[in-house]
Amino acid sequence: MVSQTDLHFHLLPGLDDGPPSLAASLELAELAAADGTDRIVATPHVRGDFVTDVGELEELTRSVAAEIARAGLSVRVECGAELGHEMGGRLSQAELELVAQGPPGGRWLLVETPFSGLDEGVAEALDELRDRGFGIVLAHPERSAQIFGRCAPVLAEELARGTLLQINALSLLGVHGDLSRWNAIQLVAAGQAHVLGSDAHSFVRPPALTAGRDAAIEAGLPRSTADRLIGSAPLRLLERGLVPLPVPLSRRRHGLVAA
Ligand SMILES: [Fe+2]
Repeated sequence: MVSQTDLHFHLLPGLDDGPPSLAASLELAELAAADGTDRIVATPHVRGDFVTDVGELEELTRSVAAEIARAGLSVRVECGAELGHEMGGRLSQAELELVAQGPPGGRWLLVETPFSGLDEGVAEALDELRDRGFGIVLAHPERSAQIFGRCAPVLAEELARGTLLQINALSLLGVHGDLSRWNAIQLVAAGQAHVLGSDAHSFVRPPALTAGRDAAIEAGLPRSTADRLIGSAPLRLLERGLVPLPVPLSRRRHGLVAA
């Protein structure tokens, strides 16, 4: 069995649209462990309608991790977030550091792809995060209906700037609808999916990395490549990080960085 790492998991209780209680968090962790996952980044929504004060996340993550260990589960849990792109301007450098992943010099942020898609405003927000020293992993781009439509140029620019794509396992399984599934398969087949994440929230949206991996194989991906999407690729991101590429002068719209 591949040792699985899940970079996108709504595990913390009572914060967002994830588990409402500690008991529900533990049940989700148990499901993940049974699926073969031994490392989880807890990624509550940090955006205008959910967590806007990240100060409490580290301590809450620590206490949930301790409860998971007490329950006898071999699942390591780390503090992170699924960041709304608009939050970059609202969070201090220290707050961004609190929810970033990876080692010094390779820190990166999991940024939610808006359902409305990628546009110039989102690109500017991502540029700002890069200018502040963070690489970008875009969460579930396949769930944006226009990702291969009007968003395609911005997506191509993001990929050129070193942004990596995290695809939801449940998208490959059709749980987010036919279009998301089709988009996910296209990204996987094109080699543009860097990692799968569960984006687990509940029993309805469970941790299902293995089933997502199997769906990727069914869609034509070689088994060794599909294994990497839930094994070595996410682990490497945590251990070695992601170095952001410099933003070209033509895109420095904010004057945030002296050119
Ligand atoms: Fe999520």
